[in-house]
Amino acid sequence: MKTNNWQPEEIREAAEALKAGEVVAFPTETVYGLGADATNETAVRKIFEAKGRPNDNPLIIHVSNVTQMKQFVSSLPEEAEKVIAHFWPGSCTIVLNKKGPLAPSVTGGLDTVGIRMPDHSVALNLIEATGVPLAAPSANSSGRPSPTTAHHVHDDLDGKIRGIIDGGPTGVGLESTVLDLTDPEKPTILRPGGVSYEELTEVLGTVYIDTHLKDKTHAPKSPGMKYRHYSPDIPVYILPEDKAAAEDVLSKLHTQGETIGLLVSVELNEQFGHMADVVFSLGEREIPQQAASRLYDGLRELDRSPATVILAEAYSPEGIGLAYMNRLEKAAEWLDRSL
Ligand code: TXA
Ligand code: MG
Repeated sequence: MKTNNWQPEEIREAAEALKAGEVVAFPTETVYGLGADATNETAVRKIFEAKGRPNDNPLIIHVSNVTQMKQFVSSLPEEAEKVIAHFWPGSCTIVLNKKGPLAPSVTGGLDTVGIRMPDHSVALNLIEATGVPLAAPSANSSGRPSPTTAHHVHDDLDGKIRGIIDGGPTGVGLESTVLDLTDPEKPTILRPGGVSYEELTEVLGTVYIDTHLKDKTHAPKSPGMKYRHYSPDIPVYILPEDKAAAEDVLSKLHTQGETIGLLVSVELNEQFGHMADVVFSLGEREIPQQAASRLYDGLRELDRSPATVILAEAYSPEGIGLAYMNRLEKAAEWLDRSL
């Protein structure tokens, strides 16, 4: 399996493999995707198999231009055109009513399809060279943190997929925003991501946030949001924001014999680093984009380290911080552990 820095002939080879119904991992600006020809049912099923993904969880399709997108949606409301004009190529997936020759497994039995145009030259060139949209979930084993390097993909999927195009670390580091526009009067964020709630509001006016994201007793409208997600094998806790409370938690875990992995900003490392065994830096506290781009790498690195538990920093849920906190809470809520 190839994990070298990519060469133009790799795109040609990968496109040939995709046309032949194989699955190939490729970089996007958010996270690495595991791609297959979205019109080929046999190929799309290989994605679910390689990831161990539940088959009622639909996949996003990736297009290289808007004309290609129009072949797969029954109509393109004005709101979708606005989102496309402002944010494509980029990290906003639009959910619309589907049409056209999509493999049934892509949409997991729904009448709708999630589509985005990634902002990454390798991804765009690969889609162009393949000539069809690529269905691509994040290229991790189901439940694990999404991959932000080719190395992460390799760790999870080596031997299960045809290849990986290595485009270096991804930029955004968290997945795209999933925006439901099936009711154009009620644009709804099903999953916060690379394009923020605030940015969408500027372009669309009122934007709703799926009730599940605020109130866990509601079933999520985005099927993927109900599964275990983003979790390393060791427990993850969110570090209390109050200094004394954080110190209490750290000493309690020490007393219990835990080896503590801290996932924090430079600033919190100065405060609490001496009470931890391993530290992974999220960058400067004032730059939440850095924390977003490092979160998954940090969860994976601390999982591989001697740490037996991860304590991660909370960020304000504004801008990219909303997506960061959504992923961190999901990583921490699995198994419902309380401190
Ligand atoms: O940034 C990203 O979006 C990455 C890169 C590879 O593009 N992809 C990604 O795919 O995160 P995945 O499969 O890991 O997450 C797709 C999410 C899931 O939560 C899924 O339930 C939701 O999008 N989704 C897909 N199609 C949908 C639909 N028709 N209606 C509602 N939610 C949908
Ligand atoms: Mg995923």
